[in-house]
Amino acid sequence: MQFNQSEFLCEVSVPKDELIVSRTDLKGIITFANDTFAQISGYEVDELIGQPHNIVRHPDMPKSTYKELWESLEEKGKWSGFVKNLRKDFSFYWVFAEISGVYKNAELVEYKSIRVPISFEDKVYYQKKYDEIRKQNGEYTRIISYEKPSS
Ligand SMILES: Cc1cc2nc3c(=O)[nH]c(=O)nc-3n(C[C@H](O)[C@H](O)[C@H](O)COP(=O)(O)O)c2cc1C
Repeated sequence: MQFNQSEFLCEVSVPKDELIVSRTDLKGIITFANDTFAQISGYEVDELIGQPHNIVRHPDMPKSTYKELWESLEEKGKWSGFVKNLRKDFSFYWVFAEISGVYKNAELVEYKSIRVPISFEDKVYYQKKYDEIRKQNGEYTRIISYEKPSS
């Protein structure tokens, strides 16, 4: 999916005191979503279960970030990073995500992810960084700049 129009630029704030939690099978299909994840992504929990986690993939994110994510899960069993996600209504939210394995009798059975809000400065930094990576990799890029919110 690619966006060309400015109506896709609305940001939704991530609550500071709640964790956004989901779990997937080993292929990235959502098996659990908490209410906060449903709320922040704009979906009902039932709409998320059974869907691939790329249901919230934002087109501003570089492909290479997800390649690294899956490589890191395979090699180290964990990954963490800054992610811009897409809501059902096409607005977006930024999070810091930590993904790790869920083990049953020492066997890896699922992955779980916990996400928290990030600072304005981190959003600006990672938007620029991801714009640059996408440009370098010949991926479609729209340059986004953020205005500091008045507090
Ligand atoms: C536990 C877990 C959580 C994930 N959370 C997200 C997420 O919040 N947003 C996202 O875009 N991808 C997330 N992914 C990665 C997706 O599975 C997928 O690789 C990514 O969206 C890129 O999709 P694509 O390869 O179809 O372009 C997660 C993967 C796992 C295993």
